[in-house]
Amino acid sequence: MFKDKKVVFSGVQPSGVLTIGNYLGAIKNFKTFSDEYYCLYCVVNEHAITVRQNPAELRKRTYETLALYMACGLDPEKNTLFVQSHVPAHTELGWILDCYTMFGELSRMTQFKDKSAKNADNINAGLFTYPSLMAADILLYQTELVPVGVDQKQHLELTRNIAERFNQVYGETFVVPEGYIPQTTAKIMSLSEPTKKMSKSDENENAVVRILDSKDAIIRKFKRAVTDSGNEIRRGEGKDGIMNLMSIYGAFTGKTEEEIEREFDGKGYGDFKMAVGEACADALAPVQAEFTRLAADKAYLESVMEKGADEASRLAARTMSKVRRKLGFVELGRK
Ligand code: TRP
Repeated sequence: MFKDKKVVFSGVQPSGVLTIGNYLGAIKNFKTFSDEYYCLYCVVNEHAITVRQNPAELRKRTYETLALYMACGLDPEKNTLFVQSHVPAHTELGWILDCYTMFGELSRMTQFKDKSAKNADNINAGLFTYPSLMAADILLYQTELVPVGVDQKQHLELTRNIAERFNQVYGETFVVPEGYIPQTTAKIMSLSEPTKKMSKSDENENAVVRILDSKDAIIRKFKRAVTDSGNEIRRGEGKDGIMNLMSIYGAFTGKTEEEIEREFDGKGYGDFKMAVGEACADALAPVQAEFTRLAADKAYLESVMEKGADEASRLAARTMSKVRRKLGFVELGRK
């Protein structure tokens, strides 16, 4: 669509320090699209305020999330990297799409139910309408493909429904996007409760491996990972912990499950956990080094933000003028 390329869009919230789940399930794959697609990757700080944030922390994490995008291999010359609040069209379209999103649809969102249970004292309207802002992020750029973790599948379905509904009423306005959800590593589970998703806001630090954790911390967390009372490194019933470690190991080394089972045949859980820890720490080391270098250079990060905001705003403006015209909003000719 833009520059004759199809568009990829994804977003990461600048809340909490990102985990290897965010890395393997989403960010690591982002750079694979840069040649073929026009890629926009956004730091979604407006989504982050649906739960209470400390302003200084939020500001710091905004820089850090951008630095992390780049440390994970996203070149700002080849991708549009930007911050959501720098492009006001997101909230403008968000409001409009609120009016084409049904109360019943939003009520069914599992992320809303989970987050309201966790933040019982702050179940605000933004938390409820979060998915229509996410739809706005995506539809604003005529996005074809949205790489996300499997937990965002429901929000993507809703985005498609909103786009289709709007197109039905007003004629073709939005591209109806597809999700891109990697099959094998889309869901990394908690190391303490391997039937639960690894979450960056987990209060138990041992459950979560973060992209910026030191090698010592990574090895220690894998050593403590909850497994089962057996001793074989294999897939099977009741072996959620081992299977989670296998998928993490596979994601970092490129090995298949069969290869991993063969490699650790006859070895114990201790050896395996150590190998997973080493593989993870080694794979993250270059990302961490690059992150540290970039995060120290605020002026450079701000120049990337500015360039990204300019590019994104230009593209967003095209969709917005189409939307306003279709809705019957009066547009003034003056510049
Ligand atoms: N909701 C996503 C998450 O919590 C973040 C997000 C916001 C997003 N807007 C998006 C992801 C648009 C993809 C596309 O992870």
